[in-house]
Order: sequence, then structure tokens, then C-alpha cells
Amino acid sequence: MNDHSASATHDNRVCIIGCGRVGMASAYALIQSSFIRELVLVGRDRERTEGEVMDLEHAVAVPMKSPINVINGSYADAASSSVVVIAAGKATGGSDTSRLDLLDANAPIVREIVGKLKKEGFDGVIVMATNPVDLLVQVALEETGLPTGQIVGTGTLVDTARLRGMLAEAFDIEPRGVDAYIIGEHGDSEVAVWSGARIAGVPLLRHSDSGEARDLDRMLERVRRAAPEVVRRKGHTEYAIGLCVQRICEAVLRNEHAVIAVSTVLDGEYGRTDVCLGTPCVVGKNGIERIIELDLDEEERKALHRSAETLRRLNPRLSA
Ligand code: 2OP
Repeated sequence: MNDHSASATHDNRVCIIGCGRVGMASAYALIQSSFIRELVLVGRDRERTEGEVMDLEHAVAVPMKSPINVINGSYADAASSSVVVIAAGKATGGSDTSRLDLLDANAPIVREIVGKLKKEGFDGVIVMATNPVDLLVQVALEETGLPTGQIVGTGTLVDTARLRGMLAEAFDIEPRGVDAYIIGEHGDSEVAVWSGARIAGVPLLRHSDSGEARDLDRMLERVRRAAPEVVRRKGHTEYAIGLCVQRICEAVLRNEHAVIAVSTVLDGEYGRTDVCLGTPCVVGKNGIERIIELDLDEEERKALHRSAETLRRLNPRLSA
């Protein structure tokens, strides 16, 4: 029988609340990791969640690096986890809608979840994957009163991965050879920081031998449309965001101090303190240990301000 002890915090326990496509892609990525010992799933339909637990238990039994205990858990189990991933709510409104359109549907769901976590005394790190992620990080902060760094939005991590993949393809190198970031809203107003991008250590803007690199505006549009194009074909996204969730959990549980583009409330960076958006951050055991403010050229600074205003205009609806 699974250990449901919800007593002390389990250092290597991750809980996923919301067992839809994104939640289960995150779960599948996490069971293939060696940095967790327990995975708790909390879903609305307990019977269906039991099926997911059973399927994952069978997967863990396949010759793997290390066994993982998978639990069909409660909020008490969630509260004793080091990291809780929130992936609950409506995943998409369709390929022609903005993630911001999901705010009214998902804010109450997130508010209810974090209220239950607070009631159970959870004081670990929350990884927010539900969209609109930038705004729902703020909802979770308001409801829990947790320190800002302890709520980490997946933010522009998946967009940054998409950009790096496209640049890698354009220059025929592997994505790890690309240093480039998407910052701002995880959505249509996000910003590519071309001025700081480097390909194999060489500034991108010094490269002129790739037609793709010469059409950077088109590449940014491809990044912004990447998720809608997946949604138009298969109805949702899951695998890339699932690995992003796993990467953030790994940086927290291993206290890596990894530099990852995640969503957080700015503390004066880029001249802002009133908005939560994606930017590189140092991620470790306490969640966001430090916010990194990238150098931006004038065009990028204006674009980031526009992105921040897009989000800030919706703040009044957060406490509705
Ligand atoms: C994505 O871009 C789910 O918003 C997430 O795939």
C-alpha cells in the first residue's frame, strides 16, 4: 500500500495537482528522473487518477534508474511535498484564442487549490503551469502569502526552448549551443532578446550567413504561434511544457541554482515592480533565488514594456 503519511515534509516528494494532459506529461517526465522518490497525483476524478497512478506504477517497474512511489494522494499528501505543481484548469480556448482568455475560468480553480494547500500548511515551492501562468502566479501569491520566490511560473521557459530549437535548426547546431531568451508574457506579446543572443558563443547579430537569422521577426512570430499551431492540429500541447515542469522541479530539488526563464513578480528589474512575467531567474531549493535583468536594446525595452502593460491591465481582475 502506498505511504500516505502527510506528516513531515518529504524532501524528494513532488505533487501534481491537475491530472490532465499537461499534468500527466509532467508526471511522465518526472518518473523518468532520478531526483524524486515519491510522486503524488491529486485529481478531481479519484477513480481516473487511480488509473493514472497504476499506469505510472507499471511504467516505473520497467527497468529504470530508480523506483519511485506513485500515490493517489490528498491535499494532506500535497502539503507534505517539497514541490507542488499546479496544472489544473482549462488548458486552451482553441488555436485562435489568447491564453489570457483563460483567466476567468482558471483563476477560481487556482484560488481554490492554493487555499486548500494553505489550509494544510504547505510551505514548499509551487510550480505554476496553468495558464495564463503570469497572472495565476500573482493569484497564488495573493492567496497563499508565500514568499514571492516560492511560486515559480513556467513562464517563457517553453517559448525559450522553442526559440533555441529554431535557432539551432537555422545554424545546424544542437539547441544547447544557443544562448537566447524569450521574456515577458507567456503569450502573444512575448519578446525575443536578439541583442543578447549568442550562437556557439558568437553574438547572433554578427551572423549574417543564415537567411533564417536575417528574418528574426518571422522567427519570433513562429515562436509566438508555436503553441496555437500545435493546438490547431492536436487540440492541446503537453510534452514540451511537461519537460519544462520537470526541469524546474529538478533545479529546486537539487538546489541547482540553475538559470531558467520562469515567471515571477519583478522587484524593480526592467524598471517594473507591478507585474509578473518571464525572465531568466536563478532557481534553487527556495524556488527563485534571484531575478536576472537582461540588457535590452531600445526596441526590446519598449516591447517588454508593452508586454508588461498587457499583463498589468488585467491585474484588477485577479482579485475578483
Ligand atoms: C505552451 O505554450 C501550455 O502554454 C503552454 O505549450
